[in-house]
Parts: sequence; C-alpha cells; structure tokens
Amino acid sequence: MSDKVNSYDLNVTVNGKPVLAAIEPHITLLEFLRDTPGLSGTKEGCSTGHCGACTVLVNGEPISSCLMLAAEADGRNILTVEGLSDNGDLHPIQAAFISEGGLQCGFCTSGMMLTAIALLETNPKPTEAEIRMGLSGNLCRCTGYHKIVVAVRLAAEELSHGR
Ligand code: FES
Ligand code: FES
Repeated sequence: MSDKVNSYDLNVTVNGKPVLAAIEPHITLLEFLRDTPGLSGTKEGCSTGHCGACTVLVNGEPISSCLMLAAEADGRNILTVEGLSDNGDLHPIQAAFISEGGLQCGFCTSGMMLTAIALLETNPKPTEAEIRMGLSGNLCRCTGYHKIVVAVRLAAEELSHGR
C-alpha cells in the first residue's frame, strides 16, 4: 500500500506499457483508464454492464470496464483501442470498420472492435450468425449492425492472410 491514506498501489500494463499509480480503491477500471493514463477512447455508456461501450481486453478477455474495479486488474495486461494501431498502421479491424462503414457516431466502436478481436482470437472464421452472437453484448444505436458484421468478416479475412 502507498503512504496515501485509502489509496491502492496499482501496477498494470496498458497497451504494452507499465503503468503504476496510487488510486482510490473504489474506482472502476473505466474511470482509471480515462482519468489516469487519459485513454478516453474507452467510452462510458450505461455504467451498468449492458451496452458494451466500455469494453477493453484484460489478459485477452473482453471485460466491461465499468463493472471491474481498477484494483481487480492489478498485475494484468489491458488492451484499449489506443493500443490497436502499430506505429501508425491501423489494425485490420480498424481498417475494416473504416472501409466498410462500420461506424457512424463512433461511440460504440472501440468496444465493438475489442470484442470483435477477442471473438476472432477464439474463432478466426466466424459465420455471420457467430459474429452477431459474439457482438450481442455491444449495442449500437446508429448503424443497424449490418456494416459492423461485414467489417468483422473482412477483418477475419485480412487476419487469416497474416494482416
Ligand atoms: S458503460 Fe459499461 S457496459 Fe455500458
Ligand atoms: S456508431 Fe453510433 S452507437 Fe454505434
């Protein structure tokens, strides 16, 4: 524990970089990511685990960061949307969302893409039904979902060809 009263010394890896911070024990992972490293690409929608806008990957698993305490992520690897590109080269899922028009306002997009990446890790060639099921915890109020599904299928093809 740090000297600060009621603080917790958090030690996580965020997008490949170590982050050490004295945090208040009650803050969520979502609050930590947005307020400490300033990674505002992770969005807060419902704050109750229903919309998926706050999804990040924790040790590769999609997690609603509004429902996880930051302290629970201690020692783990966290991937946010800011960690997807590689030296300015977009990740295939990012490129596919752009080319296929898989976003409009963009509020759901970071969570949608991270959920899709986790899906493609476990199922590299998903059917349309499997994509829709895999993304069913991520709500979009703009696109009607069809173009998101098309984008995930394209990303799956790109990834199967080695990026
Ligand atoms: S903000 Fe976390 S699921 Fe909606
Ligand atoms: S693009 Fe607006 S909520 Fe999905």
